[in-house]
Amino acid sequence: MPDKKIFIFDTTLRDGEQVPGCKLNTKEKVELAVQLEDLGVDILEAGFPISSPGDFHSVEEISKIIKNATVCALSRAVQKDIEVAAQALKHAKRPRIHTGIGTSDFHIKSKFNSTREEIIDRAVQAVKWAKNFVDDVEFYAEDAGRTDNEYLARVIEAVIAAGATVVNIPDTTGYCLPDQYGEKIAYLVNNVKNIDKAVISCHCHNDLGLATANSIAGIQNGARQIECTINGLGERAGNTSLGEVVMVIRQHKQLGFYTGIRAEHLNPISRLVSDTMRMPVQPNKAIVGANAFSHSSGIHQDGFLKDSSTYEIINPQEVGAEESRIVLTARSGRSALAFRFQKVGYSFDRNDIDVLYERFLQVADTKKEIVEEDLHNLAKAYLETGVIA
Ligand code: KIV
Ligand code: ZN
Repeated sequence: MPDKKIFIFDTTLRDGEQVPGCKLNTKEKVELAVQLEDLGVDILEAGFPISSPGDFHSVEEISKIIKNATVCALSRAVQKDIEVAAQALKHAKRPRIHTGIGTSDFHIKSKFNSTREEIIDRAVQAVKWAKNFVDDVEFYAEDAGRTDNEYLARVIEAVIAAGATVVNIPDTTGYCLPDQYGEKIAYLVNNVKNIDKAVISCHCHNDLGLATANSIAGIQNGARQIECTINGLGERAGNTSLGEVVMVIRQHKQLGFYTGIRAEHLNPISRLVSDTMRMPVQPNKAIVGANAFSHSSGIHQDGFLKDSSTYEIINPQEVGAEESRIVLTARSGRSALAFRFQKVGYSFDRNDIDVLYERFLQVADTKKEIVEEDLHNLAKAYLETGVIA
């Protein structure tokens, strides 16, 4: 039985909401926060309070209403940011301040025109300052994915000594390969003396489509928290998809991990976030896309109709999706056609289907998909004359 809990840190309302066009007002944020808590997330990143009065208010209102999850607010390693984050969190039952600074040489030189030593000092001061307001302080080493491991280990050791309870190792630019990201986490586990005093967190972006793989590599090497979003929303190509990591963990019990997520909420909350943010989900998105449980090629349909496990590794009910769909296109086969005819009330035998199939293909070649109305037309023509012109 899996015995290692992975904490799910949802950042839909912070990193996800940064997506152009996805901005939410306080009412929308509060409604989504309630649903995210119901989904079972452990930590809910509610926003970046210093960024605007509206976001401050959203974090404040979310803090009042959330009962069990930790409510987290983002800040830079800047005193004023941290104070404002603490103020926005003052009603939270379990408040967490998430503060941090860029640690890669790209950030140190180009963004801060600073030095490695100065950045360690600023990181430590930020964590110490945040500890004046809350016990639970998460530190992010921005662009950790491209930060030299030896230096990163020094930063992490220093912030844990300063009181950080969680250390976030973001692959901010989505650059790492899974083995590189995994090795980075393993390096920290093996080289940071006080690492047992903090939880390691993965925050992976999807610029190369590797966010989920990198997060899984992270937990396989010692991380115990994954930062992710509904529908994989987030800056540029997005963040790790919550649904994907949760289902990888459920499908591969041999990894020894579990989460507190109620998987049957995954599709309903995906639709809710998509509708609220007015951001469609790509149809082929794993777990929550419209085609995640659709079968359209004849070979797949025939196998699926004999035994669904030939072409499905997840039961759609487990993730709150509608039942699997047999879609009719010019690539579909006779079994699928017979199945769909049956669904709309016609019981044709094999000889009937052979005749109907020829006409079906002619119509299907002219359309993207054969819908119910087409099936009725085909059946009517056949039943009236016994042949179809
Ligand atoms: O991607 C990133 O580095 C971030 C940090 C602010 C955690 O979103
Ligand atoms: Zn991010």
